[in-house]
Amino acid sequence: MSEAAQVSNPLQGVPAHIRSILSRLHCLSSEQEEALEGKGADDFPGLTFDDVMRDKFIALEEDKSQYVYQLCRAINAKTIVEAGTSFGVSTIYLALAATANAAATGGQARIIATENEPTKAVKAREHWRECGDEISGVIELREGDLRETLKENLENVDFLLLDIWCPMALPTLQVVQPKLRYGAVVVTDNTIGAIELYKDLLAYIRDPDSDFINATLPFHKGLEVSVYLPKTK
Ligand SMILES: C[S@@+](CC[C@H](N)C(=O)[O-])C[C@H]1O[C@@H](n2cnc3c(N)ncnc32)[C@H](O)[C@@H]1O
Repeated sequence: MSEAAQVSNPLQGVPAHIRSILSRLHCLSSEQEEALEGKGADDFPGLTFDDVMRDKFIALEEDKSQYVYQLCRAINAKTIVEAGTSFGVSTIYLALAATANAAATGGQARIIATENEPTKAVKAREHWRECGDEISGVIELREGDLRETLKENLENVDFLLLDIWCPMALPTLQVVQPKLRYGAVVVTDNTIGAIELYKDLLAYIRDPDSDFINATLPFHKGLEVSVYLPKTK
């Protein structure tokens, strides 16, 4: 076997400068998460959860992000909603996939990103600009509470990434669900690690009458992949 054939290549074709930005951002995110490991509210007296998280990436891990990229390529996703953008790392993967899909099969790439923390939105835009127009030009960042910002101007959604604080996941899905196309894919992060906090979402998508079929993939802390197959559409 050649050397090249011995390593997987999920991002083949992605420009080197963008891969290098992604590696850098994932490193920064991992360092922050390691520093938070084992800490609880008592370690941050006087600070709210949002205060502590304000300067944190909490980016989707690199292997999960690469898998999400592949999934978006596989289903030819061009209209993608990202619930929870933070500093915009996973958004870059979504934009790469939608842009490549549009280039290959026509149509427009459209990423609807969401963030309610203004300082995070500023940083996300900086990262996208650094990647170039191919990325920044296809992302529409909706600032504010996504339960409001996703209500309008959304249709034919191919892919939804639920990478948001757990209690927000089900309300978000319920806002976006009427806009999902038949066969759309929803990915939810940490459904093993945060199984208790996702109780309502998991009960909803796994209900025998639900319009979703679901699988929990064995990534770190789990990654739920759900396919939307409504009976009436
Ligand atoms: C886990 S982080 C997202 C990480 C991002 N997907 C990435 O991989 O780089 C979740 C983000 O959701 C944002 N958020 C939480 N509640 C929100 C809400 N109601 N509306 C919009 N954004 C929200 C938080 O500020 C946080 O930045």
